Amino acid sequence: MSRLPLVAGNWKMNKTVPESLELAAAIRAGAPGQSGEVEVVLLPPFTSLWPVAERLEDSGIVLGAQDIYWEAAGAYTGEVSPTMVAGWCRYALIGHSERRRLFGETDEAVNRKVHAALAHGLRPMVAVGESLEENEAGETETVLTRQVTAAVAGLDEEQGLELVVAYEPVWAIGTGRTATPEHAEASCGLIRRLLAGALGASIAQSVRILYGGSVTAESSASQMAQPNVDGALVGGASLVAEDFLAIVRAATTAEASAI
Ligand code: 13P
Repeated sequence: MSRLPLVAGNWKMNKTVPESLELAAAIRAGAPGQSGEVEVVLLPPFTSLWPVAERLEDSGIVLGAQDIYWEAAGAYTGEVSPTMVAGWCRYALIGHSERRRLFGETDEAVNRKVHAALAHGLRPMVAVGESLEENEAGETETVLTRQVTAAVAGLDEEQGLELVVAYEPVWAIGTGRTATPEHAEASCGLIRRLLAGALGASIAQSVRILYGGSVTAESSASQMAQPNVDGALVGGASLVAEDFLAIVRAATTAEASAI
């Protein structure tokens, strides 16, 4: 089954509005447009979503929010609701390890956010991954099983079709130490089997599973050539237009070589 490769740039807490517009324009200028070969997603900070959306109009590049809260509105100071971003975003990143580690986000919160995203027409991009300690203790499978099972709890098949999962081992994020293609494939393959158990085999076959963690154009080509790796979630390299575009190009090459 062929799945459309997806390359997403998570800008994290970087870029003012003017800087965001500059980066978005540079990415737009070099992106493949509506080629249908790769889906390009940018995840700017909340403050930049609206202006960047205008800058990307008719470009084929789509936006995602870096997080959402699960309530639609109310007394939740500092939070951003799915209804506030649904106008500009196709995706909502949920459960990024920085949210889990630095802001105490639990598996239960991730699941609530997944349901909230779907209820408001956003496609959840769920991030999972083991820490260095868990990896060294041989617990990768246990951790991924717990995180994936919790994230998709209560989803029906139709909702499962909207899902994207990003495998981001915490030890690879921002460290320059990326996963080998074999490790990325083993973990993404496990995630697909877990999705098959939870949502059914045919749904699991259509879900895109991305690899993230110190992705570069060089590393991403061999990672994305793996059968269960359908794209990349890029952090640091997505802040430099040329570096990000090189990964976008690598995704189309990897797809072509996998056929
Ligand atoms: P880096 O590419 O900077 O390691 O970040 C990965 C990431 O966390 C993307 O969400």
